Amino acid sequence: MPIYSDTVMDHFTNPRNVGEIEDADGIGEEGNPVCGDMMTFYIKVDNNHLSDVKFKTFGCGAAIAVSSIVSEMAMGKTIEEARKITPALVAKELEGLPKNKFHCSNLGAQALNKAIDDYLKKQGK
Ligand code: FES
Repeated sequence: MPIYSDTVMDHFTNPRNVGEIEDADGIGEEGNPVCGDMMTFYIKVDNNHLSDVKFKTFGCGAAIAVSSIVSEMAMGKTIEEARKITPALVAKELEGLPKNKFHCSNLGAQALNKAIDDYLKKQGK
């Protein structure tokens, strides 16, 4: 059995929404000190909806696939809906991750959440 699902391979080889948003409304960075992988999420918020989501990831294949799918899951969602993107949901959306790669999905959900926190803080909320 292959280690990674077809969905993971697809998002790893062809990641969506890679890049940076220059005038982002919120930025969230998360890293794992053990593996050294880093993720940064950039969001634009329009009328309480995430109108744009981009990311930069320095990390393993699973981390790149996670970032890509998180960006797709979050795009167009309200702040409240985007908050509900959990690591378990991310892994499910990727049709599973190997056990030793679960922490990669944590990074994605946390980096997105931090970007939302940053946005809310800037709004004084
Ligand atoms: Fe650490 Fe993937 S091995 S994020």
